[in-house]
Amino acid sequence: MLSSPILVSLALILSLPLVLFFTQQILPQIPFPFSSPDAEDLALFHRATHITNHLSTFTNPKPKIAFLFLTNSNLTFSPLWEKFFNKNNHLFNIYIHADPTSSVVSPGGIFQNRFIPSKITHRASPSLIAAARRLLASALLDDPLNQYFALISQHCIPLFSFQFVYNYLFKNQLQSLANFADDFNLRYPSFIEILSDDPNLNDRYIARGENAMLPEVTFEDFRVGSQFFILNRKHAEVVVRDRRLWKKFKLPCINEDSCYPEEHYFPTLLSMEDPNGCTGFTLTRVNWTGCWDGHPHLYTPPEVSPELVRELRLSNSSYSYLFARKFSPECLSPLMDIADNVIFQD
Ligand SMILES: *[C@@H]1O[C@H](CO)[C@@H](O)[C@H](O)[C@H]1NC(C)=O
Ligand SMILES: *[C@@H]1O[C@H](CO)[C@@H](O)[C@H](O)[C@H]1NC(C)=O
Ligand SMILES: *[C@@H]1O[C@H](CO)[C@@H](O)[C@H](O)[C@H]1NC(C)=O
Repeated sequence: MLSSPILVSLALILSLPLVLFFTQQILPQIPFPFSSPDAEDLALFHRATHITNHLSTFTNPKPKIAFLFLTNSNLTFSPLWEKFFNKNNHLFNIYIHADPTSSVVSPGGIFQNRFIPSKITHRASPSLIAAARRLLASALLDDPLNQYFALISQHCIPLFSFQFVYNYLFKNQLQSLANFADDFNLRYPSFIEILSDDPNLNDRYIARGENAMLPEVTFEDFRVGSQFFILNRKHAEVVVRDRRLWKKFKLPCINEDSCYPEEHYFPTLLSMEDPNGCTGFTLTRVNWTGCWDGHPHLYTPPEVSPELVRELRLSNSSYSYLFARKFSPECLSPLMDIADNVIFQD
C-alpha cells in the first residue's frame, strides 16, 4: 500500500509538465522580475548569428549596402539622403534605430517602416554599442544580400552619389587576397578606424576601474576609433555574436569623462579578431580641429560650400572620405542647393 507522502510526491511530479506548460504560455506576456533587460537583444543576436547565408559570388543578384541610421532626433537630412539613394532601390536597405524617448517622427518615403525595435541611448554609456549591435543584427537577419553595413548618424551627410559609394566599396578589394579568395568577406575589408596611439588611451582603459577589463582585454589589445564604420558581413556577425568583450564594455564607467565605450568596443573587438580584414581607416570624415569637449566641429550654413564638400572628401590615406559629420539641421537647405551639381556630381 502506498503511503500518502509518496502519493503527494507522485502527484507533484506528474503535475510538473502541466505547470511548465502553463508557465511557458504565460511568461512572454508578463514582465518577469528576474529576466535581464538584455534578454530581447540576446534573442535577436542569437537569431542573427544562426542563419548561414554567406554569399560567395556576386554577379547576380548583386550585393547590397545596409545603411544603419542611429539617431536620437528627427532625420533632418532625409531629403538629401533620398536624393543620394536615387533610383538604386535594389542595391541598398535602410534600418533606423531611434531613441524611443525622443519622439522621432518618420520622414516617410524610403524611410517608411524602416524603424527597428529600439531602446534608450545615452552618450558615454554602452547603450550606443547596444543600439549599433541591434542595427547590425536586424540587417543581418533581414536580407542575405546585405554585404556591407554602414553606420550613419542624423548629423552625417553623403559626399558622393550612391553609385560612386557602391562602386567604391565593391572595387576596393584587399589586393593581397583578391586573386585566390572566393569568399567575399576575405576579399572585401571593413572600413573601421583602429588606433593604438591615442594620448588618452590609458585613462579610457581604466575608466571602469584599474583592472576591470582583465582578463578579456589587456591594455595592449585596447584600441580607439571613430564610432562610424562600414563593416563587411563577416565582421557584422563577429560583433553580433560577441559576448566576451561585451561583458566588459557594458560595465558602467567610474570616470565618465574618459568613457566613450562606442569608440573602443568595435575597434578593439575587430582588431583582436581580424586585424588584416580591416583597413584601420574610417570613410566618415569628422573635424576635431580645436575641439576639447568631446564634441567635434558642428558645421553651420555659412560654412557649406562646394569647396567644403571637395575638401572633406580628401584624406591623407589612399582612401577618400565618402561621408562627413557633424552638420547642424539648418545646413539642409544649402546642402540641397549644391546636391545635384556638387555632391552627387562625381
Ligand atoms: C520631430 O518632428 C516633429 C514634427 O515634424 C516634432 O513634433 C518633434 O518634436 C520632432 N522631434 C524632435 C526630437 O525634434
Ligand atoms: C575644422 O573646424 C575648424 C573650426 O573648429 C575650422 O576652422 C576648419 O575650417 C574646419 N576644417 C574643415 C576642413 O572644414
Ligand atoms: C593630413 O595631414 C596633415 C599633416 O599631418 C594635417 O594637417 C591634415 O589635417 C591631414 N588631413 C586630413 C584630411 O586628415
